[in-house]
Amino acid sequence: MAGTGALLLLFVLGHLIGNLQVFGPPELINHYAHFLQSKPLMVWGARLGLLVIVVLHVTTAIQLSATNKAARPVGYAGGEAYGAGWQSRYMLMTGLVIAAFIAYHLAHFTARIPAINGVGDFTKMKTVLDGQTVPDVYAMVVLGFQVWWVAGFYVIAQALLFVHLSHGIASAFQSFGLRDHVWWPRIKCAALAVSAALFIGYVSIPAAIYMRIIGSEYGEKAKAELRAATLLNAAPAQGKETK
Ligand code: HEM
Repeated sequence: MAGTGALLLLFVLGHLIGNLQVFGPPELINHYAHFLQSKPLMVWGARLGLLVIVVLHVTTAIQLSATNKAARPVGYAGGEAYGAGWQSRYMLMTGLVIAAFIAYHLAHFTARIPAINGVGDFTKMKTVLDGQTVPDVYAMVVLGFQVWWVAGFYVIAQALLFVHLSHGIASAFQSFGLRDHVWWPRIKCAALAVSAALFIGYVSIPAAIYMRIIGSEYGEKAKAELRAATLLNAAPAQGKETK
């Protein structure tokens, strides 16, 4: 669990650094996304690796939870798990909600399924970079987080990720055998700081977009283009119907 958790933490850190480019000019994140999309072997290798890591993390989590229950078939008197922080008791629950968030997130920004974004068909949003027509990831993220319930869901998911990581990071050090009475308070403090930094970093994106601090002008233009593209593609089908 600790090993796969550490690898997932590395992904979450790297993904945040990539995403923070949304605070730069639109071309910055679009160039980055285009670079990744132009390396299918690398992207699919990483996806497969991530999938294996996630499956192992979830499987070991369920096994650990079952072992914990078997070790104490009769609950603590009073119903409290003495010595365990509330975060540790909610690891399975927060983990499952994070898994549900990832499923939504993949449908939202990777598969770009129009029915679940509250906006329209993100696959139609294109821009031109160095003479090449490429997906407009900046416009997709901006329009995506201008929808209140999408931005709200992302913020709630990041709060649960914060709870999950603040316990998980410290717990991983214990699993690796690196806990002692001198280092434990420091490890707990560092885990809290890293999780809080990730929370602030991730939440800053939907928050800045929803509050129209970034992207509002670009978003209006993209919305108009999306409307035009939708009407244009719908036209031949309508023509057929009226025949
Ligand atoms: C504000 C927060 C976030 C933003 C703006 C964001 C943005 C994106 C975008 C734009 C993509 C699609 C990349 C592409 O196909 O071009 C993506 C993919 C992905 N994101 Fe996020 N993300 C956020 C939070 C997260 C979090 C918290 C996690 C994990 C806990 C996560 C995990 C993933 C995964 C696994 C993929 C799929 C990578 C792939 O296979 O292409 N994201 N994200």
